[in-house]
Amino acid sequence: MVMKKILFTLLAALTLTGCNAQNKNEQMVNHKCLVVFFSHAGENYSVGNIKVGNTKIVADYISELTGADQFEIVTHKYDGMAYTPLTELAQEEARNNERPAFEGKLENLDQYDIIFIGGPIWWGTYPQVMFTFFDTYDLNGKTIYPFTTHEGSGLGNVMSDIRKAYPNADVKPGFSIYGHEVRTNKTKVEKWIKGLNI
Ligand SMILES: Cc1cc2nc3c(=O)[nH]c(=O)nc-3n(C[C@H](O)[C@H](O)[C@H](O)COP(=O)(O)O)c2cc1C
Repeated sequence: MVMKKILFTLLAALTLTGCNAQNKNEQMVNHKCLVVFFSHAGENYSVGNIKVGNTKIVADYISELTGADQFEIVTHKYDGMAYTPLTELAQEEARNNERPAFEGKLENLDQYDIIFIGGPIWWGTYPQVMFTFFDTYDLNGKTIYPFTTHEGSGLGNVMSDIRKAYPNADVKPGFSIYGHEVRTNKTKVEKWIKGLNI
């Protein structure tokens, strides 16, 4: 009986860490986590023509490691665009503070208490379509873990932009990783997630 209890506790500690955890460190915790992300597949700087975007790879690691659900911010506005015209269009959108439309609806937002928000850096912050999401869904009151993939800008302005969008959210320190590293450096993502103690 005692042995069974020890085994169960060990198993719980191994399998139920992070989001959706029910028993961690002898305390009942029941976070429900969501990864909201945008990612652009196709021709990009440093990585060539990619089938799966860099940020999506990180988003998938996060879900794999934590069990978090996902909402992908999808627009077909940039489909098939070469890198240089895309940078020009993105710069124009940022300059005009545009709000490109995205597809789909995020259901049951109420059930999530922890939200990972991730995207590439485009011209110093997230792509404008992510701001359309921010305008659409109120994440005040949530705990937010921002992340970016980039090629030199790190977190850029995303921390202040998220705080501005959600002044009453608990915005935790952000995580950034080079886009060209995501396929070979999963350990960096693992280290970040494990250090969060969620
Ligand atoms: C339109 C555009 C603008 C970009 N601007 C920046 C930038 O300002 N700073 C930076 O470090 N990287 C910039 N990048 C590189 C991307 O942030 C990087 O490749 C990222 O990993 C792409 O992620 P994704 O594949 O998920 O879209 C830019 C890329 C594109 C396509």
